Amino acid sequence: MDRHRRLDETRQSWDHATRLHNAHKRDQAAFLRADGSTLFPEERELLGELRGRRLLHLLCNSGQDTLSLAARGASCVGVDLSPEAVSFARQLSTDSGIPAAFHQAEVFAFLEGELERASFDLVFASYGALPWIDDVKRLFTLVRDRLAPGGRVVLLEFHPLAWSFDERFQLADPYFAPGRVFTLPVSDYVGESGASLAPSGFVAQDAPPNPHAAHAFQHTVADIVTAAIEAGLTIEALREWPYANGCRLHAGLVAAEGARFTTPPGVPSLPLMLGVVARR
Ligand SMILES: C[S@@+](CC[C@H](N)C(=O)[O-])C[C@H]1O[C@@H](n2cnc3c(N)ncnc32)[C@H](O)[C@@H]1O
Repeated sequence: MDRHRRLDETRQSWDHATRLHNAHKRDQAAFLRADGSTLFPEERELLGELRGRRLLHLLCNSGQDTLSLAARGASCVGVDLSPEAVSFARQLSTDSGIPAAFHQAEVFAFLEGELERASFDLVFASYGALPWIDDVKRLFTLVRDRLAPGGRVVLLEFHPLAWSFDERFQLADPYFAPGRVFTLPVSDYVGESGASLAPSGFVAQDAPPNPHAAHAFQHTVADIVTAAIEAGLTIEALREWPYANGCRLHAGLVAAEGARFTTPPGVPSLPLMLGVVARR
């Protein structure tokens, strides 16, 4: 399948899933207006001071995290492939009174084109962004060119090993899968995670399965870190955590304190999140 068609299908799958995900969340604008935040301590720590920073949020979906970052003082630009997500984000910005700019674009097209001379102090991507990138080397090279000297890229991701296990903790998919395309619809992971992904209040509702397939990729820790180094960036932090923030990645994980999910008692710990900070 050519790249154009693959992206088109992925976009349709995200449009469908995003509508459903937001329908699970009560008044998000009121939550943000009341100083609510969708950020977790891990990204707060890795990002550091935000006041006055120019921040580019890649694959920002409906902008809840972007606006939470903007509310902490960053001047934020978000970019996402899904028109549904971007129009929701713009409305949420208006309704919450938190300014941020949102662009609907494929990430490489955006980084190569629309922002020619813009530069950022921070480029941030998180929680299920990298699996949608078909070329991490190209991503880091383009991101480097958008960073001001001394600027940092911060990734807070689900750990690539987490995708290899099924809900019984059996190895189901290879950790090493260069070039392989994983095709399946974007799930109702907000419905499956409940209040953990809906801090404004969770609305339970059943929905028929997403009819649109999406196309994702597997990148190992070494793929990600090597791509950053080869782009000329300096790795400043590399972190792993035995839990996943917000998202029940699969049904075998159990709820833990702080709106997290982890392996159940009796199952050895696994790395479920990965943090990378690299500086230009
Ligand atoms: C799991 S969500 C990311 C969640 C996000 N970190 C947040 O703050 O809510 C993945 C997003 O990637 C977007 N996406 C997928 N492929 C993309 C691409 N090639 N370019 C830009 N966005 C893309 C999807 O539309 C979706 O909104």
